[in-house]
Amino acid sequence: MVKMKALLLAGGLGTRLRPLTDNLPKPMAPVVNRPWLEHLITHLHEQGIEEFVVAARYCSDVIRAHFGDGRQFGVRIEYAVEPFPLGTAGAIKNAERWLKERFLVVNADIVHLPQLVPLLEFHRRHGGVATIVLTEVEDPSQYGAVEQDETGRILRFVEKPQPGEAPSNRINAGLYILEPEVMRYIPAQREVSIERETFPRLIREGAGVYGIVSEGYWQDMGTPTRYRQVHWDALERRFPLPIRGRQIQQGVWVGEDVEFGPGSLLVPPVVIGNRVKVGEHALIGPYAVIGDDCHIGDRAHCSRSILWDHSVVRDGSRLSNSIFGYRTVAPAGEKFTDAVISQAGEAVRA
Ligand code: GDD
Ligand code: MG
Repeated sequence: MVKMKALLLAGGLGTRLRPLTDNLPKPMAPVVNRPWLEHLITHLHEQGIEEFVVAARYCSDVIRAHFGDGRQFGVRIEYAVEPFPLGTAGAIKNAERWLKERFLVVNADIVHLPQLVPLLEFHRRHGGVATIVLTEVEDPSQYGAVEQDETGRILRFVEKPQPGEAPSNRINAGLYILEPEVMRYIPAQREVSIERETFPRLIREGAGVYGIVSEGYWQDMGTPTRYRQVHWDALERRFPLPIRGRQIQQGVWVGEDVEFGPGSLLVPPVVIGNRVKVGEHALIGPYAVIGDDCHIGDRAHCSRSILWDHSVVRDGSRLSNSIFGYRTVAPAGEKFTDAVISQAGEAVRA
């Protein structure tokens, strides 16, 4: 078991998931009917982490309202709310008073269920101030790419490399183990990016920055396409994300108090939340996640779509490849393809 505090970076704006994130920090977006941040905290708790600091600013009250002091989740949570956006390293500096020993930093918008023990063993062995957990991707241009020597030491860290400038396909997975000495390298009271400023400086000054590849599923859920993909991967069990509800047949999970109208059909893989009402001859799936308290009308179809809690799909409406935020209503007889819609009704194409 790993005894360390974890700082969760949850202060970004989530612009590419708008309008879903209009009133919601991206890490609070549900992944298979549960806020991702809850999956993350639960997973890290299972790995031994008991104390968390949430670094946030944008809609931080939503996070606090959900988790409170963490007691309900069996953990302790402190909140380091920023007076203005401090950037990824500034957010760490802002939480300094809680981080006096070796600690973990997690980009809370990444879907990844890391095994911490081997990462920590690697960190202890190299003895430097920072371990950056890495993953391999085809196109590193949206990430922080690294160059390493044969011991794993990072020689270069290039954030969002231009085409042809990425030193490798190994990128920052958004998970770090840091020694408290790192705080000395982060100026206070201003915006500081760990990727653009602090890592390059630690590398330049020879403080010891090492990288290790974490095996297993990794996905940045920051765009509608990737957000949907995370769901389909979870439903296909490509990674062991807990899914609530009873699996009534292979690939069909159903919550409590669900009512099915005559002739309605579920095509796997599909997840139905609690208290959902499904109308006559409605067709749900393949690839659908229906949140708690949703209503699916008569003859409505939902495929490759995600509905957050309390959404309504009226009679005969058809959804494909769409994401509906909390309490969104699809009017009767309409067709939604590649739609990303929140309650405000503002629709954008994925
Ligand atoms: N508290 C706080 N304050 N958090 C912040 C701030 C801030 O000012 N700015 C960003 N964050 C949080 C975001 O919520 C997210 O969880 C994390 O820090 C990373 O910021 P993003 O804005 O999502 O960065 P990115 O996705 O473009 O790139 C980062 O993640 C990649 C992995 O997906 C970088 O760390 C890359 O190097 C990395 O490869
Ligand atoms: Mg991100």
